Amino acid sequence: MQDEGYEHAHSSLIKTPRQLVVVIVLAFAVPVIGIILLTQFVTRSHRPDPAALASEAVAARIQPVARVEVGDASAESSVAKAAAPAPAGAAAAPAPAPPAVAAAPAAAAAGGDSEALLQKYGCLACHATDKKIVGPPYREVAAKYAGDKDAPSKLAQKVKAGGAGNWGQVPMPPNPQVPDNDLQAMIKFVLAQK
Ligand code: HEC
Repeated sequence: MQDEGYEHAHSSLIKTPRQLVVVIVLAFAVPVIGIILLTQFVTRSHRPDPAALASEAVAARIQPVARVEVGDASAESSVAKAAAPAPAGAAAAPAPAPPAVAAAPAAAAAGGDSEALLQKYGCLACHATDKKIVGPPYREVAAKYAGDKDAPSKLAQKVKAGGAGNWGQVPMPPNPQVPDNDLQAMIKFVLAQK
C-alpha cells in the first residue's frame, strides 16, 4: 500500500523501456540536429559576398540610419547649392530671381543649412560637435586640421570613400550618395567648429 502511494507520487511520463530508449535517443539527436542547423545558419549568413561590400550596397544597407530626408529634397539641394559657394549666402541672395525661394532660407543661416545636411545624410548618427559618438567630435576634427589647406579636399575624399585610421580602428562607412556641393558645405561646417 505504501509502495503504491510512493510510486503514484513519482509517476513518470516514461512507462516502458521502449519509451525510455526513444527519450534517450531524442535527447542526443535533438541537440545535435540543432547544433548542425545552427552552424549551417551561422556559416551561411557570414559567407562574404563581394557584392555586399560595394559602396553602393553599403550605402543602400545603411540607408535607414544614415539618410534622413528633411523636407522637400529638391528644395533642400537648391538650398545647398546656394549655401555651398560661400557662407556669404546673404551677399549672393540679391542676385537672380528664380532661386529667390531657396535664397531666403540660405540667407537665414548658412550654418543651419549645413547642420540640416548633416542630419539629412545621417552624419549626426555618429558625429556630434562636442562629443564622441561613433566618430570623432567635429570640434576635434576642426582642431586637428586647423591650418591644413588640403583639409577640405582630403576630408571630402575620406567622407565619400569611408575608412579608418585617423581616429582609431572604427571605420566610417562610405557615403557615395552625397553630392559634392552638399559634401563641401558639410566639410566647411565641420572645419568651422570650435
Ligand atoms: C557609422 C558611423 C559614421 C557615420 C554615419 C559618419 N561617420 Fe564620419 N566618421 C566615423 C568614424 C568612425 C570616423 C573616424 C575614422 C578614422 O579613424 O579615420 C569618422 C571620421 C570623420 C571625419 C574625419 C576624417 C579624418 O580622416 O580625420 C569627418 C570630417 C567625418 N567623419 C565627417 C562625416 C560626415 C560629413 C558624415 C555624413 C556624410 C559622416 N562623417 C558620417 C563614423 C561615421
